[in-house]
Amino acid sequence: MNTKVTIADLIKAKIEGKKIAAVSCYDYLTARLVAQTNIAMVLVGDSAAQLVLGFDSTLPATMDFMVAITAAVRRGAPNVCLVADMPFLSYQVGLAEAVKNAGRFAVDAGVQIIKIEVTNAHLDVIKKVSDAGMAVMAHIGIRPQNISKIGRLKAEGTTAEMAVELIELSKQVVDAGAVCLLLEGVAAEVAQIITKNTDVPVIGCGSGPGCDGQILVAPDILGLTDGPKPKFSQSFGQIGKASLEAFEKYAAEVTAGTYPDNDHCYRMKQGHLDTLKKMTDRRPE
Ligand code: KIV
Repeated sequence: MNTKVTIADLIKAKIEGKKIAAVSCYDYLTARLVAQTNIAMVLVGDSAAQLVLGFDSTLPATMDFMVAITAAVRRGAPNVCLVADMPFLSYQVGLAEAVKNAGRFAVDAGVQIIKIEVTNAHLDVIKKVSDAGMAVMAHIGIRPQNISKIGRLKAEGTTAEMAVELIELSKQVVDAGAVCLLLEGVAAEVAQIITKNTDVPVIGCGSGPGCDGQILVAPDILGLTDGPKPKFSQSFGQIGKASLEAFEKYAAEVTAGTYPDNDHCYRMKQGHLDTLKKMTDRRPE
């Protein structure tokens, strides 16, 4: 795509019933690949704490780390609609700090939308960031930053009572200023109701086909992750397997001494080896 995808384009897609493809991506090289596809939105998610840094939760992601990788993604994908995740404790401590941190993404990393994991306790954060001139994506449903409070992540909106709360929350966050929603791990029926009843684009992550768009993390899409995956996750390629084969082949050639060969060496300029030999022969021991 040659012009930057904006929130206005996403709203248009919703109105026209065109699905939005989004991906969580954390680095320049992957972003460059994504930029050559029809993926309209890239989120630099705090899942980077797990998938880049190897932690077992998203909590250790810091603002400095998130801003650095988000700026790298923007360099790789200048025209996607870029969303950044406010990491744990970047918006919970105070409103002024929340606005300042959101602003770092906008100013230092070229982010268009700030994603914040929210409950109705964070409506003032949405309002403040939005009033400061930044577009907010409200992340509701499963909120991985809440892990230490709930112990394990499980689907949201699976009972009528939970569904009512979530539908109500989706209205409150939009009223507070959110320009789009991210629904994570929400029962498909409820996600569909929320999507139908709001004018803002709704991106689903494990929330069924009724959302306006879908997001998965790039390592899952590429088949780079192993071990247990969430029910909704799907690999669309086998890059992990292909990478393993490439590393094994490389290691085999290095240990066998067949890499590097002549074609992969720099050479001294013509005649300079003889000159060097003469120079070094002349030197006293
Ligand atoms: O952190 C992240 O990548 C996310 C997506 C999984 C939605 O929040």
